[in-house]
Amino acid sequence: MSAGNGELERLAAVGNSTLGLAYEEPLLFERSRPGRTGYALPPLDVPEVDPAESLGEGAVRDDLPGLPELSEVEVVRHFTRLSTWNAAVDLGLYPLGSCTMKYNPKLNEQMARLPGFAGAHPLQDDAESQGALSLVHRLESWLAEVSGMDRVSLQPAAGAQGELAGIMMVRAYHERRGDRRSKVLVPDSAHGTNPASAALNGYEVVTVAAGEDGILHPEAVEAAMGEDVAALMVTNPSTLGLFEEHIARICEIVHAKGGLVYLDGANLNALLGAARPGDMGVDVMHFNLHKTFSTPHGGGGPGAGPVGVKEVLAPHLPIPVVREGDDGQLAWSDDLPHSIGRLHGSHGNFGMFVRAYAYVRSLGPDGLRRCAEMAVLNANYLLARLRGHYHVPYDRPVMHECILSDRGLAGEVSTLDVAKRLIDYGYHPPTIYFPLVVHGALMIEPTESESLEGLDRFADAMLAIEAEAREDPERVRSAPHHTRLSRLDETQAARKPILRWEPEEA
Ligand SMILES: Cc1ncc(COP(=O)(O)O)c(C=O)c1O
Repeated sequence: MSAGNGELERLAAVGNSTLGLAYEEPLLFERSRPGRTGYALPPLDVPEVDPAESLGEGAVRDDLPGLPELSEVEVVRHFTRLSTWNAAVDLGLYPLGSCTMKYNPKLNEQMARLPGFAGAHPLQDDAESQGALSLVHRLESWLAEVSGMDRVSLQPAAGAQGELAGIMMVRAYHERRGDRRSKVLVPDSAHGTNPASAALNGYEVVTVAAGEDGILHPEAVEAAMGEDVAALMVTNPSTLGLFEEHIARICEIVHAKGGLVYLDGANLNALLGAARPGDMGVDVMHFNLHKTFSTPHGGGGPGAGPVGVKEVLAPHLPIPVVREGDDGQLAWSDDLPHSIGRLHGSHGNFGMFVRAYAYVRSLGPDGLRRCAEMAVLNANYLLARLRGHYHVPYDRPVMHECILSDRGLAGEVSTLDVAKRLIDYGYHPPTIYFPLVVHGALMIEPTESESLEGLDRFADAMLAIEAEAREDPERVRSAPHHTRLSRLDETQAARKPILRWEPEEA
């Protein structure tokens, strides 16, 4: 007997079929059936032993953990179906500002999976790890070259940890000179991790306001700068997507009072091969390999936030450092007496170093520069197409991203509504309501990956939404309409998240 349409829909609704994409997918726990397994072991050909007898009473639990019991195909289908709910860089433009969601070439993934790298163990002897050590050593020197810094350490495992390490080095530097300083200056447009890193190091954070044009002005830094200031933390290009064009003068002002300049280099994608923070007067910086150097960013994946320093801070680099012996052999070394110490147990997310290495090698200096040029061109192209339809808070040429806002949109349509409606047009929303200095910000970072046609499609979607706000605002305010679930109660989800599955009462 064949199932009628109603029956098929019902089956789809309980996840027993793959009709369309709008099915309800039960949890693996809900699908579980006692005794079902995803493996088949051959019959036992050795005497069976009582685990409690061989391992000891305390080692065996009889309260089962209640894991789901399923066949292999059920698990594969479950996760494959879930994967189709995801937005991904491999599916389309992913304009999540400040995250540099560029396409990550598959070649780099293949390199990271080479068995010699993927199977390397952090405790393996140095003599057996010469390839891995050489990769670390070379990547450190290339990052130093790209940034104009003297030394780089790949140890930090995230941008935020790079900042923490950088400010720890700043503190170590001043303390070694017997100079106790208590403040760190941070512009109001900074990424939230900047003040957090300063505060975690025990510094008082002093906010410096950017000018009306969105950039930091020497006079504002001069007014806040004193001999109690350990460092200025500045992001260049900034989180407003703008180049801090007074950076060289600002560095001079900070140095004149004995302070150091920390550069949040997470947005280096816009500068690659074109300008170097080290040449601007910066003393210490971090990179986000997972933005600039080809590891997917977002979704809580692995990170790598190498730190680069000028020679004055080199004695304080985190350990271990890679050193080359007289015999040309490389080795990890903890011998750095003024180091800030270890940042974690082993060496960070090594697979990311391999991806970054492959990325730099395959692009070469000219290719890296072209990345930056295309990223900047793409952001400016989008801005040019959207200007006049969306409010542009700082209307000047941008670097890697452009910022719009919901000011003046018709029909009381807000930034959140635009973001939700973009999902109906097939796009992951941009970053919204950040940076905080722009009310109702929409932060769009197209990256260098997009073609002209791809940018035009996205711009057309944005323009269509702006027109809808005038003609049918309710359609925008109640979006998304073409998704499995419509507008969610995000406050409830944030305030009262249900994080644990509980079995239903029998
Ligand atoms: C400008 C800036 N600084 C710092 C960070 C922090 O990096 P992470 O998320 O790796 O800690 C980010 C992350 O995107 C960033 O965009």
